[in-house]
Amino acid sequence: MELTEIYRRGEAELRTRDIGSLLDGVETEFVISNNRRVLDQYMIKQRCIDGVEATTECNVLGVKLKTPVIMSPMTMPIPAIVEGGLIEVAKGLKEAGSLIWTGTPIPGNLKDIVATGVPVAANVKPFKDRQKMFEAIDSIQSAGVNWVGIEIDSGEGTKVHDKQMAFDCTPLSLDELKRIRERVSVPLIFKGVLSMEDAEKSLEAGADGIFISNHGAHTLDYLPHPFQVMDEIVQVVRGEAVILVDSGFRRGSDAFKGLAFGAQLVGLGRPILYGLAANGAEGVKDVVQNVTEEMRRFMSMTGSAGPERVRRDLLIQN
Ligand SMILES: Cc1cc2nc3c(=O)[nH]c(=O)nc-3n(C[C@H](O)[C@H](O)[C@H](O)COP(=O)(O)O)c2cc1C
Repeated sequence: MELTEIYRRGEAELRTRDIGSLLDGVETEFVISNNRRVLDQYMIKQRCIDGVEATTECNVLGVKLKTPVIMSPMTMPIPAIVEGGLIEVAKGLKEAGSLIWTGTPIPGNLKDIVATGVPVAANVKPFKDRQKMFEAIDSIQSAGVNWVGIEIDSGEGTKVHDKQMAFDCTPLSLDELKRIRERVSVPLIFKGVLSMEDAEKSLEAGADGIFISNHGAHTLDYLPHPFQVMDEIVQVVRGEAVILVDSGFRRGSDAFKGLAFGAQLVGLGRPILYGLAANGAEGVKDVVQNVTEEMRRFMSMTGSAGPERVRRDLLIQN
């Protein structure tokens, strides 16, 4: 199925259900409209003579992928979309050569997801009950995930419209991040970095990856889009950690812009839900493959041979 049709059908289907409101944003929903506005501020410089044959394959933190387009962390509301939803998502992403990333709640069937053979990352929230948080970290590691993600941006939980969704969270300190680092034996990624200060602290705590994200408008209102802070963060990180980005990415052009800004991986949140709702595992596969193919066309027509070769100066700001 084509991307426009998947998004149209998937969103329409989800909007008929209670879970449809999870597609919305916190409070005024400024973050959602700003995400699209900022993504649309950049155009792509064509440089096609002596063009290259572009590959989208990449190797990130020990994981070989056919595409730098991955799933952003989510669990809710996937099991409610179709029965066995997480396994369907895993199958679709495996077919696409991508990665599944679970969120809250930590899936009870995480081992079964790992057993599908898709690369798996799993997130943990900064629960007020730190013992519960460390137990969650231990349990996802013992399920055999490839990477552990920590939501540094969920210190005040999550919220959609006026409704608090995740409770019982509190911000993490640098010391706690260092303790998490000691506890995690696989690559560790801090999600929700939006400033150079947090990027510096993440590096000091030993992060392998820094996920630049405004959580798709589910935490604080009036957070910037990643592109509004990314140049300064990339300068601080200087290749010491992998950079990931999400928040409003929908098409291959968006993903290309994410790579140009310096990300190694680009996450899709809602588009994965649309794919699942529109056509199960096949729909999820189609979303990632279509976004990847659109992105590859831009790579080919800009002389970018691989994801790491997509340069910042290929973007023109409106
Ligand atoms: C329904 C829903 C559930 C989410 N759950 C989580 C979660 O548990 N943990 C997390 O770090 N992010 C969560 N997110 C945020 C996504 O990981 C991601 O940052 C965001 O959706 C990206 O924006 P996009 O949906 O515009 O692509 C969730 C987002 C949605 C829409």
